[in-house]
Amino acid sequence: MFLFHRGGGLQLHTPAKLNLYLEVLRRRDDGYHELETLMLAISIFDWLQVRTNNEGQIRLVASWAAGINARAQPSPWTELPDAKNNLVFRALERLRIEAGVELGIDARLVKRIPAAAGLGGASSDAAAALIAANQLWQLNYSRTRLATMAAEIGSDVPFFFSQGAALCRGRGERIEPFRYRRRWHFVVARPVQGLSTPAVFSRCRPPREPRSVNPLVAALAQGRRRAVAASLWNRLQEPAESLEPAVARLRRAFERLEFCGHQMSGSGTSYFGLCRGRRHALRSAARLRAAGWATATAVNSIRMPD
Ligand code: C5P
Repeated sequence: MFLFHRGGGLQLHTPAKLNLYLEVLRRRDDGYHELETLMLAISIFDWLQVRTNNEGQIRLVASWAAGINARAQPSPWTELPDAKNNLVFRALERLRIEAGVELGIDARLVKRIPAAAGLGGASSDAAAALIAANQLWQLNYSRTRLATMAAEIGSDVPFFFSQGAALCRGRGERIEPFRYRRRWHFVVARPVQGLSTPAVFSRCRPPREPRSVNPLVAALAQGRRRAVAASLWNRLQEPAESLEPAVARLRRAFERLEFCGHQMSGSGTSYFGLCRGRRHALRSAARLRAAGWATATAVNSIRMPD
């Protein structure tokens, strides 16, 4: 999360994430799945602008950044939820009630991270909203306290309180940061279609012998690209492909290019390829766009300030 003071309010740049590894360990009695996943923050950002109001109301205006969907065809997945169903609104309302504050917040959200895409856009926005409100309302809540509240808003939200690299367990809300070497370059693309997270999870059969994340953690710590590529894994990819054929078409498009490795992110439908460097990523994104995958973009891993 990058935070700037702007004219009496705050502006936050909230990143997307990629799941380089995602294993489903078991189905839980509460309807969730026990997970082990490794996430990296990447250089696609939503913008959240916030300032206080004296009316004690949470007001949110959300829109797509100009031109962001111009390259993609309009679809149900490019519609934004009503303001009151947006996780930013829900996070702010919850914090306002819990802290008993009388001030409100006017928030403007400009979205660039595709929705229903497995890139954590809404979760990142919600984490930014909590961090911003904590400052604006001078609550002095600790990061731990905010992250605990964040976990109740969504399983991926606590990750965005990390510095951009974490192993996440439980529902995804138990965070263990790790260090990695180098800046990692990727191409991210998504089909027009999105997928609903509950639908993908309910199609997934937890394995008898789960994979281990340790080889990937070691490869990232040592900066060994080939070993990273060999340890990419996403248990949700198979169910996602069976629900949405566009994911398999995107996989085949990635297979035709020379990525070091590639897979779907989260519960889809975004797909990413690991590249040798920035130039390789830019060239591969251009080739995917030329092949009709209009959303293909070169991105890199980012580290966020504490
Ligand atoms: O926590 P969040 O609201 O993001 O989860 C959305 C849905 O995704 C859940 O209602 C559940 O169906 C599914 N899910 C799951 N196991 C997880 C995370 C999410 O089954 N660990």
